[in-house]
Amino acid sequence: MIDVLRASTTIVTALAHGAAGVRPVLTVEVARALAAAFGSGSDSGVLLGGERGGLRIDGFDLGNSPLDYSRARVAGRRIVITTTNGTAAVEACTDASEVLIGAIVNRAAAAARARELAVAHGTSTIHLVCAGTDGEVTEEDRLAAGAILDAAGRLPGGSDDTLDASATAALEMFRGVLSAAADTGAASAITAAFAMSRGGRNLIELGMRADLPAAAAIDSLRVVPRLDRGAHGDEAATGWLHADAAGWLHADAADTA
Ligand code: MLT
Repeated sequence: MIDVLRASTTIVTALAHGAAGVRPVLTVEVARALAAAFGSGSDSGVLLGGERGGLRIDGFDLGNSPLDYSRARVAGRRIVITTTNGTAAVEACTDASEVLIGAIVNRAAAAARARELAVAHGTSTIHLVCAGTDGEVTEEDRLAAGAILDAAGRLPGGSDDTLDASATAALEMFRGVLSAAADTGAASAITAAFAMSRGGRNLIELGMRADLPAAAAIDSLRVVPRLDRGAHGDEAATGWLHADAAGWLHADAADTA
């Protein structure tokens, strides 16, 4: 699932900064009820995060800016999060064998882990689900999907991948943005592309322009959030996103950003 501005970037950042787990939920009411059930308000309780209209929800500990999710704030904590489109998109994916969270910040790791899990499950199909906004695919999510596909194409066997029309268009879009970036570098070019996108314009209007370069920091994080399906018989873990990484990235090479 991809919601690069900002739910997927924020979830990757939270787990890369040591959060113990992130539980995406659909509504503010469910988020509050879960926090009450798990215990909130103390140093060891869960943190409530998310947005409505792009802004932190009343009484919540954190908004939906990746910049809120510093190591000092989230390390060791469980986080219940609800966002307008991103957490609904995770919910829409729950029939899949595996659900990973992809963004620009972890795009190479997400591509590699998706391929590894597809092999492990004996499937050759991977869907890149763009959360979009109000049911419409957005340029920023398409760009992030293209970034993941670009990384996937560089993996062993990647040049044999068959892409459908929307995946091909996303890949071309990403490569177009990169090819115009010879002078500025990829992250600046992606930031500029975000600034012209629907989600990016919205964040700028809300005074959160700083979230754009944070979401454009390509391959800065190696964590891949993976939805726990209770495969290990641990009911309590079901429905939580936990930090995962591709096997070719050393498990001990923790992100330090
Ligand atoms: C969403 O889930 O709709 C977005 O992540 C919105 C936002 O970050 O403000």
